[in-house]
Amino acid sequence: MSGDLHFDVRRFEELDSTNSYLLDEARRGAPAGTVALADHQRAGRGRLGRQWESPPGSGLLCSVLLRPTLEPASLYLVTAALALAAVDACRDAAGVRSGIKWPNDLVVGEAKVAGVLAEADLTAAGGPVGSVAVVAGIGVNVTWPGPPGAGGTSLAEAAGRPVERDRLFDALLSALSPRVDALDSPRGRAGLAEELRGRCVTLGRDVRVELAGRTVIGRASGLTPDGHLLVDAASGTEEVAAGDVVHLRRNEGTGPDR
Ligand code: BTN
Repeated sequence: MSGDLHFDVRRFEELDSTNSYLLDEARRGAPAGTVALADHQRAGRGRLGRQWESPPGSGLLCSVLLRPTLEPASLYLVTAALALAAVDACRDAAGVRSGIKWPNDLVVGEAKVAGVLAEADLTAAGGPVGSVAVVAGIGVNVTWPGPPGAGGTSLAEAAGRPVERDRLFDALLSALSPRVDALDSPRGRAGLAEELRGRCVTLGRDVRVELAGRTVIGRASGLTPDGHLLVDAASGTEEVAAGDVVHLRRNEGTGPDR
């Protein structure tokens, strides 16, 4: 990809999922910069096989097809690029300060306001040699705080005023463009990784991570070069590649030995 990425925005009243739509388009050879924006998704997808639901018109639901030349270990930077752009967009379009909860949530305080899901298709040809098709999708709760009991918030609630979805969308694409360029150079990737560390509100927090069959409790101390979370636990430092992280309240601690 080069510095003159053009966004081709396709708007839909309803789709199954903006990610699924663009993955299909990627297999048909659609170019980098193709964007799908939907008012409603019949089968929106979240991380770890979950659903992403929101009533029609209540959220910003969009995905972007990118074709970066990246090692598999750096693919997490695509998620980071979109999440970082969304942090900027929430600030610019709504005056809301948000942070990134590892690995891919946007939070205001402790409340989730958006989630990012990036999916790669290694078989989808159509980009430069060595490139990989990646669809990065984001769902922002604009007027709906998410399912009851899930601890989410909406951008309008956080802003204390109505938020225009179109303005948020425009701000998102503007903030994304330079970060997409950054994906294609070692210096740009190092900058994105650094920016992610600066915006990741999980770092420095005591956390509980649910992994298959066990729970890790400790202090989130860093990110590895491939985006894994380092957790300093009583038994040593654990490297977490994927999982659900809970930020512990500051006075919950991580046990008497810490
Ligand atoms: C998560 O928090 O689990 C990630 C949620 C990602 C949801 C967005 S909505 C637009 C795009 N299309 C999908 O099907 N999912 C993503």
